This record gives sequence, structure tokens and C-alpha cells, in this order.
Amino acid sequence: MRVILLGPPGAGKGTQSKKLAKRTGQLHISTGDLLRENVSLGSELGQQAKGYMDKGALVPDELVIKMIAERIAQDDAKSGFILDGFPRTIKQAESLDKLLQEHSLKINYVIYLDTSEGIIIQRLSGRLVCSQCQGNFHAKNMPPKQEMICDYCGGSLYQRSDDNPQTISKRLDVYKDDSSPLIRYYDAQGILKRIDADRDAEPVLEEIVLLLKK
Ligand code: AP5
Repeated sequence: MRVILLGPPGAGKGTQSKKLAKRTGQLHISTGDLLRENVSLGSELGQQAKGYMDKGALVPDELVIKMIAERIAQDDAKSGFILDGFPRTIKQAESLDKLLQEHSLKINYVIYLDTSEGIIIQRLSGRLVCSQCQGNFHAKNMPPKQEMICDYCGGSLYQRSDDNPQTISKRLDVYKDDSSPLIRYYDAQGILKRIDADRDAEPVLEEIVLLLKK
């Protein structure tokens, strides 16, 4: 199965994708994680992407589309995947459709995590991420058992550099302008499923799992 988790920054795309991948055994592909990995490795892609990410802007379509095309061509993606953070523009969505059509494949579901702005700001300002396994925590909502230490791998937790008020506000604007048109794009294909993601993570996950079983 090929699933996209769509929603604004802080909607819980990463949180739900990881939980869903654990539950279903599906591969989780996050363009944000892939780009941050490239930045920390200092690769050419990372160097090109860093300035955009620091500002809360989108990395140019051609760079991200190439990165995702290479990732989904790998063997572990053959039986399906959960996409988190991609597509983010209509151009990315059209390129993904084209890539899949070349192999007679398609996206089965797009789960739209509908989240209100107050909740988004509260979630992003308290987010903590593991420097080793990318495990996701929140200082208040989902605190780690030991302060600033990852429950899953013992790695140290950090706050993302783009989780500051100014960049969060820019990311929200970019989402409204460039990414929210995807809701209509996938609704028109009849594959969009809207979920109230203002709730706790567990009931949201259960609803996604139920939806995917239908
Ligand atoms: P990316 O890493 O994808 O960031 P984002 O879309 O802004 O999304 P976030 O990771 O901030 O939010 P999320 O929805 O995953 O929320 P999370 O689960 O972490 O992208 C970063 C940058 O990379 C972009 O700005 C851009 O520059 C670039 N980029 C990436 N993809 C690109 C693309 N396709 N094209 C161009 N550029 C691209 O949850 C947030 C917090 O809330 C956590 O602390 C979590 O513990 C908590 N939480 C989650 N769910 C709940 C819940 N239900 N209840 C309580 N707390 C919750």
C-alpha cells in the first residue's frame, strides 16, 4: 500500500508515520528527515537545501523530486511506503503520480491530518527530536522517560533549529500557499481521508489504521 500523510507543520505527520510504520511494517519515508540527514552529512544536496530549510522555505521542487525518485526506486520501497512531508506542491504531486504510473502503481490513500493553528504552535515549540534515531517527543505532551534522552535508543534529544516562532510562522504561510492546494488535488482523485488531528496521538493512529483496513 502507498499512503501519503498530509498536513501542516506540527500536524503529527512524523509522529503518526512512525507509529503506523511500526504497526504495519510499512516503510516510512520522510523528506524532512532525508534532507536533515543530507545537511548533517554536508552532502551537495544538504548544502543546497540548508538555506531554504533554515528560513522555513521549501527546498526547490527539482531537488526534492530527484531525492524521492531515487528513494522510492530502492528495493525496500517496492511493496509500498508511507510518505511524510512529500508531496508539498502540486508539481511534486504530479511528478509522483507520473513516477508511479510508469510502473503501473498509484497512491492508495492520502490521510489529511486536519489541525488548528493554536495546537500547531504549541506542539512545535515543545518538540524534541532524537539526534540518532529521529524519535519524536514533546516536552509536555509526550515527554521522554529521562530528561533529554531518547526512550528508544538512548540518543540525546535536541530542539530543531526551524522550531522557533519566526520560522514556524513562515512554514505555516508556505503551507497555506503551496501545500494546502493538495487537499483539493487529492480530493478530486477520491483518495483523500480527513482526520481530526487535534486529538491525542493514540486515537488519531487508531482512526488511521481503521481507515486503511477499509
Ligand atoms: P519537515 O521535517 O517535513 O517539517 P514540517 O512539514 O514542517 O513538519 P514537522 O516535522 O514540523 O511536523 P509533523 O507534522 O511531522 O509533526 P510531528 O509529528 O513532528 O520539513 C522541514 C523542512 O524541510 C521544510 O520546512 C522544507 O524546508 C524542507 N522540506 C521537507 N520536505 C520538503 C518537500 N517535499 N519539498 C520542499 N521542501 C521540503 O509533531 C510535532 C510535535 O507535536 C512533536 O513534538 C510531537 O511529539 C507532538 N505531537 C504530534 N502529534 C501529537 C498529538 N496528537 N498530540 C499531542 N502532541 C503531538
